[in-house]
Amino acid sequence: MNKKLLVLILGNLFLLKIAVTAQSSMINIESRAKISLNGEWQSIIDPTNIGEWRQLWKEKQPVSKTDFFEYSFEGGTLLKVPGDFNTQQCELTFYEGVIWYKKIISITKMQNKRRFISFGAVNYRAEVYFNGTKIGSHEGGFTPFMYEITELINDGNNTFIVKVNNTRLRDGIPALGYDWMNFGGITRDVYLIETGDTYIDDYSIQLKKGGENEVAGWIRLNGAKGKQKIEVVIPELDLNFQTQTNSSGYASINFKGKFQLWNPENPKLYEVFLSCETDTVRDEIGFRSIETKGQDILLNGKPIFLKAVNVHEEMPLCGCKTTSANDAEYILGKVKELGCNMVRLAHYPHNEYMVKLAERMGIMVWSEIPVYQHINFTAQGVADKIDLMMREMIKRDKNRCAVIIWSLSNETYSFTPGRDSILINLSQECHQIDSTRLITSVINTQGYNNNVVDVWDSLYKYCDIISVNEYYGWYVPWQGNPEETKWELNYPDKPLFISEFGGEAQYGNHTGSVNEASWWNEEYQEQIYIDQINMFKNMPNLAGVCPWILFDYRSPGRLHPIYQQGYNRKGLLSERGERKKAWYIMKSYYESK
Ligand code: GCU
Repeated sequence: MNKKLLVLILGNLFLLKIAVTAQSSMINIESRAKISLNGEWQSIIDPTNIGEWRQLWKEKQPVSKTDFFEYSFEGGTLLKVPGDFNTQQCELTFYEGVIWYKKIISITKMQNKRRFISFGAVNYRAEVYFNGTKIGSHEGGFTPFMYEITELINDGNNTFIVKVNNTRLRDGIPALGYDWMNFGGITRDVYLIETGDTYIDDYSIQLKKGGENEVAGWIRLNGAKGKQKIEVVIPELDLNFQTQTNSSGYASINFKGKFQLWNPENPKLYEVFLSCETDTVRDEIGFRSIETKGQDILLNGKPIFLKAVNVHEEMPLCGCKTTSANDAEYILGKVKELGCNMVRLAHYPHNEYMVKLAERMGIMVWSEIPVYQHINFTAQGVADKIDLMMREMIKRDKNRCAVIIWSLSNETYSFTPGRDSILINLSQECHQIDSTRLITSVINTQGYNNNVVDVWDSLYKYCDIISVNEYYGWYVPWQGNPEETKWELNYPDKPLFISEFGGEAQYGNHTGSVNEASWWNEEYQEQIYIDQINMFKNMPNLAGVCPWILFDYRSPGRLHPIYQQGYNRKGLLSERGERKKAWYIMKSYYESK
């Protein structure tokens, strides 16, 4: 074999090794040395995906007088990152397809410095190129991912090209049908992160299950070259735990402390410093225990009623993707106003601003992966995608004490092939990965006959709480007096949580009969809430409720031109934050709890 060919093969193997091994995903981005890549990115809208065939990421430039290439980022559309692209151009409102994004950044190569590109999320698929080399691809629109670029850096200008594709997939998670806006794009923050050769990649610092003064955790280094000393310091407690990693960079962490336990009234967070010999990260961590005892949910050993509300990751006032701390402040401020102590981040992991602010505000968090309704469980690769999404959700937020519930599915069906085995395995795996939180799956297949609700599902054996969506008074007419409704569960010794209920109304609409749903008036919605609350009052094992939904939000399947205009109108608030009559019913119920 001639020398030139050998060099070519070895060179490509080297690049392949980098590209394959470049996957990384350190946690606690906030604490890292980083440069933001947020802002305007050049883009090419590619509805036929021809950019793949044209190998657009190579950005070929004309050399001879007869050369030409039918694409260019120069002169193209500029798109804001983070953000959905649908609301940035009228032509993109319902766009589902490929958009190529480009960003140039100047980087200085430095010895003993490693660099990564980190994405908070890209919906739905991302293929990432750096200086013309593919460094990775990611599927899933709501969890972070990152790639190491250290070996591929040029001194000076470097180019990232990201192929984003928000086309819904039959084998996607979620799949083809869902009741929210399919916002595509680089929807969360992008950073260039810098570390030393060996850095703190991941750690877990939470109270040991069932205890209130003992931490059982661990820490993992990346790039460890032998054992390293580890230190966990909590200055406020004058606590300094020391240990040493094994040669592969892992160490378990166990220490006791007199913690002020986190709770909604006193959302106490401690400044925590984690150090190895070559890296230190700072986190703010709360300590609390969450468990069930019979039909009760116990927070720090005391029964608590979950006064929740559902929220999508949509900024109401602009009808666009929620992307910032300000957006989180606006939304969670309304959650607080309603009198909630928990928010259900439906139906997928929301951005970190939401989770961290909820924690600081004393709002417990329900986090969920978008295993939503009709999933093609038996298709090749779907079980792995679901498993990865669960792991990515837990990896990012496992140190957020406000997160008390991992929800692994919403309204899937026992009769769907593969669903029971996959979600039962997933529940067991989730318990193994994280024994400190409650696990659930949301069901809406309960029976309802003669005003008796018969709640059963094969997943409930593996859930810590029984979560049910029910729309009595809206999709399903009442079969008798709401306060006489009987609930029968196949797991009566577990807490019951109503994860969705409600109905639609157009804010300010008081027309037509208050007894007819088809007028979409506020009075009809208000009566649904009055009836639902009368039912709740007679449900002995009810551990919490969660109205669907806080704000009216965009959903392309909501077609009524007078009352919906492409919005799901089950909000207690309009998309302009205006309170409907039902809001006041819910508010007073929560005040009474
Ligand atoms: C379902 C589903 C929601 C949906 C809601 C509705 O229960 O979980 O995602 O938006 O009902 O129909 O409004």
